[in-house]
Amino acid sequence: MKKTRLIATAALALSITLPAAAQMSVEDQIKARQGAYQFMAWNMSKIKAQAVDGDIAYNADQMKAAANAIAAVANSGMGALFSPESSLDKADDTRLKPEFFEQPEKAREVGMNFGREANKLQAVAAEGDKAALARQFAAVGKTCKACHDNFRAK
Ligand code: HEC
Repeated sequence: MKKTRLIATAALALSITLPAAAQMSVEDQIKARQGAYQFMAWNMSKIKAQAVDGDIAYNADQMKAAANAIAAVANSGMGALFSPESSLDKADDTRLKPEFFEQPEKAREVGMNFGREANKLQAVAAEGDKAALARQFAAVGKTCKACHDNFRAK
C-alpha cells in the first residue's frame, strides 16, 4: 500500500515537473541559467565585499539575505535548465560545454558539491560570524570554479 502510494506520488511529481521543463525553449534555458548565475555572482560579491575584503561594513542581515538567495538558486532544480541541445556545439550565445552531458558523473559531482557548500553558506550566514562566513565564501567559490573549469568555455 505504502509503496504504491509512493510510486503514485513520484509519478505525479514527474508529471508536474517534466512537461514544464520540456516546454522551455533552448533559448529560454540559456537565458534563465545565465541570469541565475549572474544573480548568484551578485550575491557572492556582496559577501566578498563585507565578509572578505571589508570594503563595506559587515551587516549580518544583508549577509543572511545574500546567502539565502544563493542557496535558493542552488536548490531550485537548475538541472532543468540544462539540455544537450543547449550546449555550445548546438546552440548560440552559450558557454556550456558538451562535456557536461558526456561526463554525467563528473557533472553530478560538481553540482552536488556546489549544493552542499551553498547550503552550508546559508547556515553559516545565519550564525553571523564574519570570519566563518569568509571561510565558507571561499569554499563555495571553489565549487563554482570547479564547474567552470570543467564545463564552461572561456
Ligand atoms: C554546475 C556547474 C556550475 C556551477 C556550480 C556554477 N556555475 Fe557558473 N556557469 C556554469 C556554466 C555552464 C556557465 C555558462 C552558462 C551559459 O553560457 O549558458 C556559467 C556561467 C556563469 C556566469 C556568466 C553568466 C552569463 O551571463 O553568461 C557567471 C557570472 C557565473 N557562472 C558565476 C557562478 C558563481 C558565482 C557560481 C557559484 C556561486 C557558479 N557560477 C556556479 C556552470 C556552473
